Amino acid sequence: MRRKVIAGNWKMNMLPGEAIEMINELTPLVKDTKNEVILCVPYTDLFYALLTAQNTNIKIGAQNMHFEESGAYTGEVSGKMLKAINVEYVIIGHSERRQYFAETDETVNKKIKSAFKYDLKPIVCVGETLEQREAGKAVDIITKQTELALQGLSNEQVENTIIAYEPIWAIGTGKTATSEDANNSIKEIRNKISEIYGEETAQKVIIQYGGSVKSSNAKELFNMSDIDGGLVGGASLKAEEFSKIVNYDK
Ligand code: PGA
Repeated sequence: MRRKVIAGNWKMNMLPGEAIEMINELTPLVKDTKNEVILCVPYTDLFYALLTAQNTNIKIGAQNMHFEESGAYTGEVSGKMLKAINVEYVIIGHSERRQYFAETDETVNKKIKSAFKYDLKPIVCVGETLEQREAGKAVDIITKQTELALQGLSNEQVENTIIAYEPIWAIGTGKTATSEDANNSIKEIRNKISEIYGEETAQKVIIQYGGSVKSSNAKELFNMSDIDGGLVGGASLKAEEFSKIVNYDK
């Protein structure tokens, strides 16, 4: 059985003081869960979040990284830098980065390879736009994004990649994919991984759903056969609400 992984994505929110307060509030609320709990925080919160989450079951991730290890890339942060402060996870290829910051399937692939080089665990986002969905192209898009993201990785690396299926039309809109739709899309992603890397590997990959996950829909989504947890934006900013999502099975 695959474990459930529930990751918060704070996006460009939360000052250090707010991050410390939120993590201190969240700690007792999630301490007994068997689910994996991750918070992906802004760079400026990383150090504070790592210190505050020390000796808890809350793991800390970044929201992006550059694929080079160092150099003349003003404003960028590398995997090597994240690893040096003990960051464990990194979101790669979020749709907002693809849309606003020219992230491509190629840069996503390079970043995943660099993340593994520095022993970071990537959370890789794929998802279709509303237009692509309405044109009947959703499955083609998400399976292609998955294939290109994972290109050149070993089976072991694929097994250690977390994929977040996030239909773009469901992010921050309050619209959630139905649990059946989300499960079916995730099954298609898993089938594609099976085609390339074999069924044994495909069965080990954690594939989350993301897009307006909240405490009121988490249980239904996470109880589906192929949905292995969630990547949670807005609802991860408040400790109590996020804890209810983590504890969906209580
Ligand atoms: P949302 O964001 O939960 O606010 O829809 C999810 C995400 O973008 O990861």
